[in-house]
Amino acid sequence: MKILFVASEVAPFSKTGGLGDVAGALPAALAALGHEVKVVSPRYRDVRDDRLTPTGHSLELRFPFGIERGPILSVRAAPNLELLFLENEHFYGRDGIYGDAFGEFGDNPRRYAYLSMGALQAAQRLGFFPDIIHVNDWQTGLVPVALRRGFQGTALSRARTVLTIHNLAYQGQFGKHVMDELGLPWDLFTAEMGLEFYDAVNFLKGGIQFADALTTVSPTYAREIQEPEGGASLDGLLRARRGVLHGIVNGIDVHEWNPETDPHLPARYGARNLAGKAACRRELLRRFGLSPDTEAPVFGIVSRLAWQKGVDLLLEVMPMALQSDIRFVAVGSGEGRYVDWLRALQQQFPQQVGTFIGFDQGLSHLVEAGADFFIMPSRYEPCGLNQMYSLRYGTVPIVRATGGLVDTVEGGVDGTGILFEAFHPTALLAALRRAQALYAEPERLQDFRQRGMSRDFSWDASARKYERLFASLVTD
Ligand code: ADP
Ligand code: GLC
Repeated sequence: MKILFVASEVAPFSKTGGLGDVAGALPAALAALGHEVKVVSPRYRDVRDDRLTPTGHSLELRFPFGIERGPILSVRAAPNLELLFLENEHFYGRDGIYGDAFGEFGDNPRRYAYLSMGALQAAQRLGFFPDIIHVNDWQTGLVPVALRRGFQGTALSRARTVLTIHNLAYQGQFGKHVMDELGLPWDLFTAEMGLEFYDAVNFLKGGIQFADALTTVSPTYAREIQEPEGGASLDGLLRARRGVLHGIVNGIDVHEWNPETDPHLPARYGARNLAGKAACRRELLRRFGLSPDTEAPVFGIVSRLAWQKGVDLLLEVMPMALQSDIRFVAVGSGEGRYVDWLRALQQQFPQQVGTFIGFDQGLSHLVEAGADFFIMPSRYEPCGLNQMYSLRYGTVPIVRATGGLVDTVEGGVDGTGILFEAFHPTALLAALRRAQALYAEPERLQDFRQRGMSRDFSWDASARKYERLFASLVTD
């Protein structure tokens, strides 16, 4: 099949979270199955790579606010996998992906309309007429809409569209003036088969209405978003579309995340010989200014500091947990209130707590390798990738039983990790205590680590599920 994959970030070129990881790895896995895949993403200022070459084609998109133009650049990652980057100085030639220190960029509707319409025009310009157009999250929600409306009757319009929801909470909601700003026809401003949502424009809703099939990134989250509690006000619509909604758990890039070859680590290790993990642990403690020789268990997090991630619950519990001899290292960036709170915790417990505020991919690998336990107390979690990286690195995950965390971490005495149910300090504290008890029994801990390291989280199985879904749409 020919597959056009559109995403607002693609690792390693651009990344703010798991979407970037998925956009970096899933297209490659589909290409490895023999499909011809092209990925379209913006060329943000930070996307600099010697392999980027001009395609000789460029876009010209007409909006009410003016004509927007920009070249299409390309990186060939495999004979049947090409990454296309849309360059547009005025939309993407600035620091930040979705926003900066002052908040979200005000022109995001225009920036992602350019990506969405631009991806379709790029395919036309390159003479690539896909069977499947696979779009991701609100930033590409206008693709299925535009395909049905603007590109009807062209060679592109026979393509089937699949929208993957990586996070239902981010919907791309804007004031209704955006209809005129982008030149969207007002008959689309309806609740039924349209973009209207409580008198605002909602890009994700448009995608959900117009895509031929919907997926989300784990089976449990697929169920949760059909309930009022997890549905972010779109649960009714998702229930109405449940017949075409599938939960497919993410895989991970097992080449990038491999403790046997990871270039970010001071020593490498595998399931049969964990000696190198001890060296990673020492280096981790050293990097965070903590005494490297301690026997105390090391708990780590690497996270966007956002409400979703439950960092507030963790920070509430930590002063109590730190009464016993444990260490805590945190890598995160995001909301100021959590940054301040983390810093205050570090000042209160300077011998036990280390923090790094910022985004550092190398350091995230070191935390996965060097920590004994990795904590994810998420309020909700569509899939989550860090728990799978942890399992692969022999680091026992402590996760709240929600979304994809339930589908990837096994609880119980013969499990791979520690799960807790209630989003409540007592439940998290009890989980941390269970971890400490496990740490006190080296043989049992070793069994947990080895079970986790033996699990297969490669993209292969999930890519085949996408392949089957795509094939069913094409033959319909
Ligand atoms: P989400 O996409 O909701 O943030 P995921 O667990 O799916 O959650 O993916 C998060 C990804 O972003 C992981 O690859 C994680 O290592 C990375 N990440 C998050 N915060 C940071 C950070 N501050 N520095 C480096 N990597 C980070
Ligand atoms: C989102 C979700 C996360 C998921 C990622 C990739 O950012 O918050 O749970 O793993 O997308 O699908």
